[in-house]
Amino acid sequence: MENQIRHRLVLIPPPLQGHITPMLQLATILHSKGFSITIAHTHFNSPNPSNHPNFNFLPFFDGLSNTQITSKNFVDIASTLNIKCVSSLKETLVHYITKLANENHGEKIACIIYDGFLSFIDSLAKELKLPSIVFRTTSATNLLTYHVCLQLQSKGYLPLQDSKSRDLVPELDLLRFKDLPLFNLTNQYDFLQSIGKTLSITPLGVIFNTVESLEDSSLNQLQKLYKANLFPIGPLHMIANDANNSSILQENDNCISWLNYNKPRKSVLYVSLGSIASWEEKELTEVACGLVNSRQNFLWVIRPESISDVSAWLESLPEDVKVGVAERGCVVKWAPQSEVLAHKAVGGFWSHCGWNSTLESLCEGVPIICQPSFGDQRVNARLLSHVWKVGLEWCNAIERDEIERVVRRLMVNSEGEMMRQRATELKHEIGIAVRGSSCDALNGLVKYILSLNA
Ligand code: UDX
Repeated sequence: MENQIRHRLVLIPPPLQGHITPMLQLATILHSKGFSITIAHTHFNSPNPSNHPNFNFLPFFDGLSNTQITSKNFVDIASTLNIKCVSSLKETLVHYITKLANENHGEKIACIIYDGFLSFIDSLAKELKLPSIVFRTTSATNLLTYHVCLQLQSKGYLPLQDSKSRDLVPELDLLRFKDLPLFNLTNQYDFLQSIGKTLSITPLGVIFNTVESLEDSSLNQLQKLYKANLFPIGPLHMIANDANNSSILQENDNCISWLNYNKPRKSVLYVSLGSIASWEEKELTEVACGLVNSRQNFLWVIRPESISDVSAWLESLPEDVKVGVAERGCVVKWAPQSEVLAHKAVGGFWSHCGWNSTLESLCEGVPIICQPSFGDQRVNARLLSHVWKVGLEWCNAIERDEIERVVRRLMVNSEGEMMRQRATELKHEIGIAVRGSSCDALNGLVKYILSLNA
């Protein structure tokens, strides 16, 4: 795009860490392709503009301040955002369109790229006569599963009577009913209503943070459903190769020094449940005991929402556990996760299987103990364990003996070693795709955006 005006894109993430991060990575990539970038964001959980000096930031009202996002209120938060942000985002965009026209020599917004979580933006963009593309930050398989959930609902299978059923879902031969991305039994109906609304939109372009070879069957099926331009461009964090930080919480870099100090190759288990899922205090104690008893090194993220005073809690542990944590463990509130997973001392990940964590682990060849908590994490866990064979499915009780056993299965036993080998192969495959299919999809996306403005 040299010697041409830079087309302006407005990217709109919801205020969730697992969605803000990939949107900012996509923004970095599109900026490197010659686009001007504006990030429209809520005040709540807003990204830090000083970490992204090349972008403009445009805040809008959300009605969520001081909310703590948990797996229990996730569906309500999605509905709140899709109601409360409609008029504020419209007002903000209308004002911005005028400002650009007046102050930037008649500059226009070339395209809105919005997260599918904020489904109201589709009609808003149409109303403002702006081209739009939807960005799906979860896996393609997860999106396909939503479509199947709606079919299942119309056939009377839902709400599920038994959310733990291991029977295979007829339309999705690799997933069992227990893997469906539903939330708890009580709000299944609300959830299906909200995804029904989202899926009734027929977008012209859909961006996925994924790798074609990992999800080719799901992408093919989605292609038939949507008849839209699908752009599987991932893993975005690898393509963006962005040193700019998008963490809402402050990262603790001391854990990298801890990893550097005397830790043999692949000897450390990294433990983190992402930005929403958490263990209760009683469970944290079992996890601490299980990790110590496994006699493996561990780097453990305990977010402040899980427990207000981690130091006091650690102090309150039985003496032998406290000594074990001090000898073998490092506990932080938030880690520089991509750097941790890329560290040579890390040999395993105990994860909730959020899509970003899944991709970050795959890219570094780190196998996973899969303990999904809600929504798409169950689908990702099934892909990791059953399809890609780099994950141990684990849904046992959070009890110290069970934990000790599963940690040793991944870190010590031959079963874990085979997964590590398989994970190394997948890492290699992904590296090839980044330069191949994902690069082609990215070039296709750039052309597509330019064609919308031709
Ligand atoms: C949410 C949903 O829960 C997830 O299922 C969905 O796929 C995306 O949105 P979250 O639970 O936070 O996300 O999980 P995940 O997708 O894994 O994203 C977490 C992000 O936070 C990752 O990019 C990870 O690198 C980062 N992280 C996590 C840190 O940087 N430091 C930490 O200590 C923990």
